[in-house]
Amino acid sequence: MGMRSNPQQETHSHRSIDTNQFPIIPNAIKIPNMKLGCRLFNQSRSVFRFIKPANRNLHVSFPRFLALPCKINQTRKHFSVSYPNWAQSRVFPSTCCSSSSSSNNNNNNNNNNKKNDHVSDFSTKLETNDKTLEEGRTESEMEKEAWRLLKESVVTYCGNPVGTLAACDPGDKTPLNYDQVFIRDFVPSALAFLLKGEGEIVRNFLLHTLQLQSWEKTVDCYSPGQGLMPASFKIRTVPLDDTNVEEVLDPDFGESAIGRVAPVDSGLWWIILLRAYTKITGDYAMQERVDVQTGIKLILNLCLSDGFDMFPTLLVTDGSCMIDRRMGIHGHPLEIQSLFYSALRCAREMLASDEGSKNLVRTVNNRLSALSFHTREYYWIDMKKINEIYRYKTEEYSTEAINKFNIYPEQIPYWLMNWIPEEGGYMIGNLQPAHMDFRFFTLGNIWSIVSSLSTPKQNNLILNLLESKWDDLVGNMPLKIVYPALEKEEWRIITGSDPKNTPWSYHNGGSWPTLLWQFTLACIKMGRIELARKAVDVAEKRLYSDHWPEYYDTKSGKFIGKQSRMYQTWTIAGYLTSKMLLENPEKASLLFWEEDYDLLEICVCALSKTGRKLCARGAAKSQILV
Ligand code: GLC
Repeated sequence: MGMRSNPQQETHSHRSIDTNQFPIIPNAIKIPNMKLGCRLFNQSRSVFRFIKPANRNLHVSFPRFLALPCKINQTRKHFSVSYPNWAQSRVFPSTCCSSSSSSNNNNNNNNNNKKNDHVSDFSTKLETNDKTLEEGRTESEMEKEAWRLLKESVVTYCGNPVGTLAACDPGDKTPLNYDQVFIRDFVPSALAFLLKGEGEIVRNFLLHTLQLQSWEKTVDCYSPGQGLMPASFKIRTVPLDDTNVEEVLDPDFGESAIGRVAPVDSGLWWIILLRAYTKITGDYAMQERVDVQTGIKLILNLCLSDGFDMFPTLLVTDGSCMIDRRMGIHGHPLEIQSLFYSALRCAREMLASDEGSKNLVRTVNNRLSALSFHTREYYWIDMKKINEIYRYKTEEYSTEAINKFNIYPEQIPYWLMNWIPEEGGYMIGNLQPAHMDFRFFTLGNIWSIVSSLSTPKQNNLILNLLESKWDDLVGNMPLKIVYPALEKEEWRIITGSDPKNTPWSYHNGGSWPTLLWQFTLACIKMGRIELARKAVDVAEKRLYSDHWPEYYDTKSGKFIGKQSRMYQTWTIAGYLTSKMLLENPEKASLLFWEEDYDLLEICVCALSKTGRKLCARGAAKSQILV
């Protein structure tokens, strides 16, 4: 892909990047030196700065509108927002679930006003765009309500749609941070809008979150790396004077989150969504923008930087993904690895093919190939592999060791011996020296299929397992986040006695309807549409009448989760996305990846060079090249 220069990008504002911390991207970006045009936003609990003061010698532009203040005059009944970049001023009437309803109570009415007007604009647009229904089919009441709720969850920033709130439960008096736009939660919303032909909100989201990437926030006196994307953001309304207020985007990088978890998956989702946006809309100019290219490189830089690690998998702390609290998923959890793999594949497609990116693309290719080899070889289990582990010799020394991670067979859990089907297998949840986490994590496995982290044969075997273990993994509500739940002493030690993560609840074996869209995508990819339809049918029995809960509890997903939010946006959007993917399976192909045989070759070559025949040829034939 060639880079076109876009004069619009050469604007007043810029962000700076520390090239000293940019080792893998020599001469990556050369942009004219521009003046800093972003303002400081101070808040009592934390200080936000746009750039680090010292050592910033690489300047990157981002679009002018992000730096322009958005002033709102409070004295008028219907107030207007001026947004010079769009050269427009808008008047807003009122509604219930407002983007700012909890951000600033004084401004509730005004912000509510804003909402309705925006929502009606949006509705009209979506209705005009509607070509998604099969001929002759009308939308069910359930779908109609889902669309209405999804539109109502839309958040505007200076009058423009930029995301969706995590939940819009009118009965919830303590929304905690569910009144924010979460990066991962927005993905199904974005896909629903994109599949309906509406790209503006997704484009705005991508560009605004890109701007947040360069903010610097601290946890006590420490700042996380510069490429980190926030877990979520909120639109706050701050008074400028007696009559004017200003809207400000306020990101949360984990410094306010429960447990202060680092949102490692946010940047990965951002890259994945960017690719989905360009594929579906055809707006390739977006990924070619200099600021967007820089955003991709910053994320890659964080993920690919050298550490003490011996494996190609990404090393993270507990709770760095959808399961954002302590659940024993620190180290190399599968979910992060499959998102990492997908993001690398997306980035490789989107990086400009110029001199500055050559080394980076090579690094990405090497990592992709090592990562797929590693997971296919060491994370995969089925009857045969469990039997091998069961007979493992331990304490082996040398590069020829079979039991490379020194796994003691006693660690194979009892439940697994009975549970593993004859036909079927899956990727385990985590792998560390002397430790395999045998739990089945749904998102990681589904996303391995979608991204082709696993082989075509493994992909089918994972779906076989999901089919044969339907009652455990789907039951009354698709899909179980992890199987089985941690109980008793394990629950006490691993979750730290977390009362929200009691057995078969929330992250500890709860059922999460949002996973439906990802399951649908995997099934379409593997030509198993009937399986996806079956899961959608199960979801349709409950979601609408139960008011779209966030998650369900119990072993079979029978009850609405004890602390579950209602009207959870990614439940709603996940359902709509599944429906649209099933009606337009050709669109799904824009969202998944097939096996890349060039990558396999890189790995086979690398292995044979080391002369480690044991892992080389046999593994390549039996696992990689299948
Ligand atoms: C919970 C989920 C997290 C989600 C957030 C907002 O914390 O664990 O994955 O992003 O809620 O819905």
